[in-house]
Amino acid sequence: REYVVRAAKSEAVGEEAKPAGDFDAFRPYLEKIIDMKIQIADLWGYGADRYDALLDVYEPGITVEKLDAVFAALRAKLVPLAERIAAAPQPDVSFLGRNVPVDKQRAFGEFILREIGYDFAAGRLDASAHPFATGLNPGDVRVTTRYKEDDAGFSLFAVIHEGGHALYEQNISPELAGTNLCEGTSMGIHESQSRLWENMIGRSLPFWERYYGDFRRITGEFADVELEKFYRAVNEVKPSLIRTEADELTYNLHIMVRYELEKDLINRRLRAADLPEAWNAKYKEYLGIEPPNHTLGVLQDVHWSGGGFGYFPSYSLGNMYAAQIMDAMRRALPDLDGLIREGRFGPIREWLTEKIYRHGKMLTPAEAIRSAAGADLDPAYLTDYLTEKYTRLYNL
Ligand code: CO
Repeated sequence: REYVVRAAKSEAVGEEAKPAGDFDAFRPYLEKIIDMKIQIADLWGYGADRYDALLDVYEPGITVEKLDAVFAALRAKLVPLAERIAAAPQPDVSFLGRNVPVDKQRAFGEFILREIGYDFAAGRLDASAHPFATGLNPGDVRVTTRYKEDDAGFSLFAVIHEGGHALYEQNISPELAGTNLCEGTSMGIHESQSRLWENMIGRSLPFWERYYGDFRRITGEFADVELEKFYRAVNEVKPSLIRTEADELTYNLHIMVRYELEKDLINRRLRAADLPEAWNAKYKEYLGIEPPNHTLGVLQDVHWSGGGFGYFPSYSLGNMYAAQIMDAMRRALPDLDGLIREGRFGPIREWLTEKIYRHGKMLTPAEAIRSAAGADLDPAYLTDYLTEKYTRLYNL
């Protein structure tokens, strides 16, 4: 009871401290939350590392030992890759800021959701401050997006992302409806489906070969922008300060920063008072940039203020699972790019349903990845995918 009250207060204080950039106002609340998370972890019990107890809430079976190994592999490949990209000629992205009225963005978003197989008879698309998907049962899975008139790509990729979460929930076996097995098996596996549809399909060249004409027709814009130019722009890699706006590659570096910091906080190797300095140092090290204030730095997320320690790694696990699942699907459906280029998503959805979706929580995360890929989690699929994609895109 004490924890729930503390977390609610801390979240409210965090919300006020963020726009003001006032870490000192937030610090006593954060310290208390960390103390209580440590107590909770100690009461729950754990194997090798106290942080394992917190990870287990979001991704059963994942431990510090496993994460240290996969993040080391990501760091070794992705930090130098991001540096090489930063030194290469940059794509023109200026046209992405053109004004596209909300009703046209909405029309294209709905069109794409139908194309990938989202069932509007079992869901709907609305607007909200932060995009999300929520499944009440397989017959009612709703998605939201956020519209920015000067950034049509933002709402579109949010729609595809949330659409990926929704396809998972809509395709859980009806046999499981009404039981607590009728949901995605973990945060990481869920995120693998949103990332697979958003990035690996939705930002691919075959996808835009199929849909760029529709995009131009429905938005009434971009007639003067060539396909290849558009494709490069929506795949821009640029180190930035804000996690939620990060690209497909640097997103993982944002997560690595948070993983390393929260692991140290929970093991009392890092004090809350020293957190802002440690945050800035890691941004400098991994992304080559430093936040000018705490609003754009350590205060940006709601996770820690609400007590969500152990959640962040799910995002990168989602990217790693997605790359591994995509590789397996490519072997099962050899003409995967052709299917995407023809807008034929049925076989893709059916394969994912057979391997992952229909099982709901009947499979653990480790069993789900084995069901789809026939192997355990392996970060090499993500680093290979990103290296191949961006070497080509940036002519490295
Ligand atoms: Co998501």
